[in-house]
Amino acid sequence: MFVMYRSYTDWVKVIVVIDNNVYREDLYTSWGLSIYVETPGVRVLFDTDTDGSRLVYNAEKLGIDLSTLNAIVISHDHYDHSGGLEAIANFCRGRPIYVPAHSYLLDYVCNLGLTPVPVHSTTLIADGVYVVGELSSGAFGLYEIALAIKVRSGKLVTLCGCSHPGIERIVEKVLKDIGGIPVAVIGGFHSPTSYSLDKLVELGVEKIYPLHCSGLGAVRYLSRKYPERLGTGGSGFVLYVE
Ligand SMILES: [Fe+2]
Ligand SMILES: [Fe+2]
Repeated sequence: MFVMYRSYTDWVKVIVVIDNNVYREDLYTSWGLSIYVETPGVRVLFDTDTDGSRLVYNAEKLGIDLSTLNAIVISHDHYDHSGGLEAIANFCRGRPIYVPAHSYLLDYVCNLGLTPVPVHSTTLIADGVYVVGELSSGAFGLYEIALAIKVRSGKLVTLCGCSHPGIERIVEKVLKDIGGIPVAVIGGFHSPTSYSLDKLVELGVEKIYPLHCSGLGAVRYLSRKYPERLGTGGSGFVLYVE
């Protein structure tokens, strides 16, 4: 059945389920990333960390019912984003899992009982919820997708995994393919250059949350040059946009 979605949603809640650092002291950290996204129309898990048991523990503590997930998105093939898949698959067999079209995980996720959806170009998967088309990092054939949510007011939230293709290229693609006001970018930036971070500001990103593999250098650079733009995240951080 073909479903037409609206280009926006009324609100979005983003919860960092697990990250390299904590925002809430009662939660686990891990070398990895997993972010839960909820809108009035859909519940999505973006990446699944390294460690399924810690991920499930944190989700329970945060009141997230994994069995109600409508879909999973895996940004790229690295283990610190797909390591928890086996544990998550137990909660949502048969449900769609969006992966880069060039992913090596297709057979693996089929064997876990999930339904792979290879993503080449930007795809609207629910009202205002977009899987951002794959970009190549140019190294070792690694491709990466992202997630962007647009609300009625035009505000855009972008989630990224490791940003191997470059965080500024991901945000440029989001603005080109979807458009809107980039109020927040959250995720791993993979030790970005100062050029990448300056470019985010130039593109109008209002709040930048360097999680996971972003590195201390990025945090220091942002806090020195753009202190008002730097956001603090970590396991348990919640962002609500409407
Ligand atoms: Fe990573
Ligand atoms: Fe990575």
